[in-house]
Amino acid sequence: MFKHHDKIERNSILLLILTVIVISIGGLVEITPLFRMETTLEKVEGMRPLTPLELAGAQIYKREGCYGCHSQQVRVLRDEVERYGHYSLASESMYDFPFQWGSKRTGPDLARIGGKYSDEWHVRHLINPRDVVPESIMPGYKFLPNRDAGISNIYDDMEVLRKVGVPYTDEMIQNAVSDAAIQASNDRESAGLIKRYGEKVNIHDFDGNPNKISEMDALVAYLQTLGSFVDFAKFETLRSKSDKKTGDKK
Ligand code: HEC
Repeated sequence: MFKHHDKIERNSILLLILTVIVISIGGLVEITPLFRMETTLEKVEGMRPLTPLELAGAQIYKREGCYGCHSQQVRVLRDEVERYGHYSLASESMYDFPFQWGSKRTGPDLARIGGKYSDEWHVRHLINPRDVVPESIMPGYKFLPNRDAGISNIYDDMEVLRKVGVPYTDEMIQNAVSDAAIQASNDRESAGLIKRYGEKVNIHDFDGNPNKISEMDALVAYLQTLGSFVDFAKFETLRSKSDKKTGDKK
């Protein structure tokens, strides 16, 4: 082996050819599974693309670097499942680009934060976390209600996401700006929005200011969706599937 190595190291062309072969094998091992990505996605009911308002919120979440302190992934460990709820499924982040699994938890995991608190709680907490959690070390984001969520060109982002596989329809994209305004209000006709995104869409003037679609409206709308799409009553767990196969009725 070492004898041959000597030969290879002295012959640069041979070294180059063999290097390319070794790198190609490594590349194939990494790339081939990606072509079979769809086999890793569980079939679930309830997943939908984010509404335009929620999508704007997701962008604020990334801009502010919330992922630096919060993960969005409940792991398959008992303590996590007991604390946060059902472990995260791959299909729950299939429309996230980039996904927000994160790698550090200075604060708690947010994968199932949707519906845990009221919209009002989130608004107070984001303005000054210490108002609701006195020992909190999370920074305040008190500028969010004053800033415009920038909805006017959100359909561009939806077009891009559609190109990478998020199922936005033409109708969703055409109505993006008005759908965002409707979701951030208490009293506008919302039948179209509900038809496009489903019954569960959270429609509310989140920040209490009806004259403005603020970054607060968008971010809270987004947070309230997290982990709330999949109906786990209808989801067959891996455990129950394998139990069925082996006939184990535990
Ligand atoms: C410096 C780290 C840090 C950053 C950055 C941060 N957080 Fe937090 N977050 C925390 C900590 C610590 C807690 C736990 C104490 C509390 O509830 O305030 C927390 C709690 C939360 C909670 C409540 C979780 C629960 O289950 O009770 C939410 C929601 C939240 N953060 C959202 C956000 C959002 C949205 C952003 C970005 C705009 C953000 N955080 C940025 C540290 C951070």
